[in-house]
Amino acid sequence: MRDLFSEYDYLSYVFPEPQYLGSKHIHRGWIAQFIPVHAHVALDAFGGSQSIAYLFKQLGKRTITNDFLSFNNQIGKALIENRSAKLDSKDLNILFDRNCNPNEFNLMEKLFSNLFFSQEEAVFIDSFRSNVPRLDNPYKQSLALTVMCRSLTRKVTMGHFAHTQALVYAADPARIKRNRSLVTPIKTLFLELLPGYNNAIFDNNQENKSYNENILDLLPKLKNIDIAYFDPPYCNSHADYQSFYHLLETFVEYWKDKDFVNGTKRYEPKRYSGFDKTSEAIGNLKRMFELSQHIPTWLVSYNDRSFPDIETMIAMIEPYRHVETERKSYLSGRGGKGSVAGSSEVLLICTIRK
Ligand SMILES: C[S@@+](CC[C@H](N)C(=O)[O-])C[C@H]1O[C@@H](n2cnc3c(N)ncnc32)[C@H](O)[C@@H]1O
Repeated sequence: MRDLFSEYDYLSYVFPEPQYLGSKHIHRGWIAQFIPVHAHVALDAFGGSQSIAYLFKQLGKRTITNDFLSFNNQIGKALIENRSAKLDSKDLNILFDRNCNPNEFNLMEKLFSNLFFSQEEAVFIDSFRSNVPRLDNPYKQSLALTVMCRSLTRKVTMGHFAHTQALVYAADPARIKRNRSLVTPIKTLFLELLPGYNNAIFDNNQENKSYNENILDLLPKLKNIDIAYFDPPYCNSHADYQSFYHLLETFVEYWKDKDFVNGTKRYEPKRYSGFDKTSEAIGNLKRMFELSQHIPTWLVSYNDRSFPDIETMIAMIEPYRHVETERKSYLSGRGGKGSVAGSSEVLLICTIRK
């Protein structure tokens, strides 16, 4: 009896509302209906905010998640792999302690003070970062990085770092009225967000795992996956995640070997995606499907304004799988990346031919 209903045990946990371009959080109920009940091991190949990996975990699946950006992998470690580690007041005393190595931990101040944050806030972020390794448990460290990244996103207008207007907007009374976070100290934002993250941590009694790899390198190493969810960047809109979220990656990686370029101080060179340029996307999508033949069921998210178009996508999958197309129309443009009113979210259900 328990087996039949075990997928419902964890649905009362609440995934902390993400602020991430292209997050499928708002589509999770719709996507959930196409996840086969009997699929035991589930892969979220382009995890991003980890919203669908979290859904897999809630459904009791052994969840394998992946994203080539390190800050997204930290969310995967904190919310997917992690069974029970939470941040308590003792941990907060450590995190909010003074900078334990100011000579080494001053990158955020050097790069981003008076650009995205005041100098005082940038100094605070550096000291917090210096203390993360002092937490005695790697999952606590991932959780601290995750909640801080979310706080930094909330602090900045538009929730991304591809513009240079953060401090201009943060001084605009009309914007402040609409969004108090612009003038809320980062420490306060962190403390407001933390309970939601602590409460989202649970054990689904599976060996869940978060990877930080290019999916084309990871796929050949994986075995015994029952279902894969593919939500690649949409090539013609907002595909360049490293321009939008470079600051979070720099905060987590604390780069020593990068240049920092243009007005936003984005790190250079970027990581190689292979899915964010129209010239490369088709070749790499083909390769990805070829490498996924050992996985019986694939769910592929797409938006009908994406590149390549949906017919091209289906033509790439059909040599390997039978494809059915499900659509959900956007009534407004508030669904995140690509969610123009009148366009629709597409899910390709790809199964082995009978
Ligand atoms: C559309 S978003 C995924 C959104 C996710 N489903 C969610 O709900 O938040 C695409 C993700 O692919 C990641 N990505 C881009 N190229 C990748 C690659 N070659 N391998 C793995 N991840 C990649 C990006 O960092 C981004 O987080």
